[in-house]
Amino acid sequence: MKVLVFTEKPFAEAAVKAIANVVNASGNELELVERGTREDLLNAVKDAEGLIVRSDVIDAEVMEHAPKLKVIVRAGAGYDNIDLKAATEHGICVMNTPGQNSNAVAELVFGMVVMMCRNQYNGTSGSELKGKSLGIYAFGQVGRNVARIAKGFDMKIEALDVFVPDAVIEAEGVKPLHSVDELFSQNDFVSLHIPATPETKGSIGYDLVMKMPKNGVLINTARKEVIDEAGLIKALEERPDLRYVSDIKPATAEEFEKKFASRVFFTPKKMGAQTAEANFNAGVAAAEQVIAYLKDGWNKFQVNK
Ligand code: 3PG
Repeated sequence: MKVLVFTEKPFAEAAVKAIANVVNASGNELELVERGTREDLLNAVKDAEGLIVRSDVIDAEVMEHAPKLKVIVRAGAGYDNIDLKAATEHGICVMNTPGQNSNAVAELVFGMVVMMCRNQYNGTSGSELKGKSLGIYAFGQVGRNVARIAKGFDMKIEALDVFVPDAVIEAEGVKPLHSVDELFSQNDFVSLHIPATPETKGSIGYDLVMKMPKNGVLINTARKEVIDEAGLIKALEERPDLRYVSDIKPATAEEFEKKFASRVFFTPKKMGAQTAEANFNAGVAAAEQVIAYLKDGWNKFQVNK
């Protein structure tokens, strides 16, 4: 059986080797397409039974070109790039690899925050994280890693997650919150870890950001779609003390950069999970999950049930 790894953003070399080992050891064949075009994907998927991707868009058209496809594993957490309804209609199991790249994303949160608090290392006087408050929006795997690291900075930590019981949040030494208004009005830093869903898309905008205390910093390592960009631009215009850092280039990045210069920072390409360790962990987990599904239907992390 053929397992296709299709990644616009390639895995680190060691991860690719480890994925190949897992697939070959199971007696299956690996095809690797890195930085491929849409056409490359449609061609390569024709005879694939398993597919491993990252943020690559896998929609109904791809599935229509893949009559043998049984399982897609998104090597990572967010699966908004995969059309789950179409997958279900095609009888394809879709899984993610929860937790495998979450430390990498959490470390980047602080990488970007410290850089912003030190004025992008331009030699001027900056500010510290110690004693400041951090609000974590969604207390999943990334949110929990962010809390763990924030403790080392001696920050006050609060989290909002309607799906996680207060006791679980408290057990991590974090104060549970119950409204998004509290999250924004009480915290110097707000770090977003919500998935992109119909409910969350465009949900972070003017009204919420304007509630932030003086010198507030909004951090987005989630998805650009959760931001109402026009609303955020308006808030940044009215509040010259506010800053925005994002691991996802906004659709209107040029406007942000032109208007706000050093008050905003965007990675050129989503790179929260782009570490040797995260690539290895998520890639190997994805390979093992594809093989386990093809072998005996193992589907612990299926997201289209
Ligand atoms: C995820 O959802 O796992 C992260 O956003 C990482 O995405 P990537 O694999 O495209 O880097």
